[in-house]
Amino acid sequence: MIQLNNVTASFNGHNVLDNVSVQINPGEFVFLVGQTGSGKSTLLRLVYMDVTPTKGNVIVGKYNSETVQQSEKPYLRRMLGIIFQDFRLLEDRSVYDNVAFTLHVTGTPAKDIKKSVLHALADVGLSHQRNKMAHELSGGEQQRVVIARALVNNPTFLLADEPTGNLDPATSLDILQLLKGINMRGTAVIMATHNHELVKKMNARVIEIRDGKLVEVKNF
Ligand SMILES: Nc1ncnc2c1ncn2[C@@H]1O[C@H](COP(=O)(O)OP(=O)(O)O)[C@@H](O)[C@H]1O
Ligand SMILES: [Mg+2]
Repeated sequence: MIQLNNVTASFNGHNVLDNVSVQINPGEFVFLVGQTGSGKSTLLRLVYMDVTPTKGNVIVGKYNSETVQQSEKPYLRRMLGIIFQDFRLLEDRSVYDNVAFTLHVTGTPAKDIKKSVLHALADVGLSHQRNKMAHELSGGEQQRVVIARALVNNPTFLLADEPTGNLDPATSLDILQLLKGINMRGTAVIMATHNHELVKKMNARVIEIRDGKLVEVKNF
């Protein structure tokens, strides 16, 4: 479970989020919308505890932003698959290695790495491309690798920050459908986007950030 309780988040004295509360449960699909600069990325960064609230608290599973230790954050983040706005792959490494990379860093045993990576690549429909170099793939395929990398720890929540920001409309729809499939298999998805056309294509919960407040949007 993710909870924001009366959270204010400020930069240089300006409240990006102003006393907001929201709960997101395992298994949900949530769109997070709002104009550029409205605070979508900030909200996601609060959830993975890269930004600390100025007031209020954020609870993710057993972790609370008021008490979490720096040393606990890697464990917290294993519950969260994170797709950053400016996704980066290691261009000169294979698809397989890109997905395996984080597991090597965290010291996962080799046989578990192989199983997890092949599973994540199957989830995004890229098993057949696993030996290609990242730079040999199309933009949409590269974004699938990024999603596989985020899924490799089998997270409870997938946080996707503008995952279709650099993609054409058809490829964006493919990625949305992929995320929907991942959600149907049990992973909660929180997707920040300002692409209204995409949001309208799916019947999901929509939370809009408007002037620092959160508004649950019905019938988007
Ligand atoms: N690290 C930071 N330092 C200062 N200001 C920031 C920082 N991160 C975000 N902001 C400001 O907070 C506001 C919200 O940014 P952001 O969360 O990135 O919005 P969005 O993702 O909706 O475009 C913007 O005005 C941005 O300039
Ligand atoms: Mg953003």
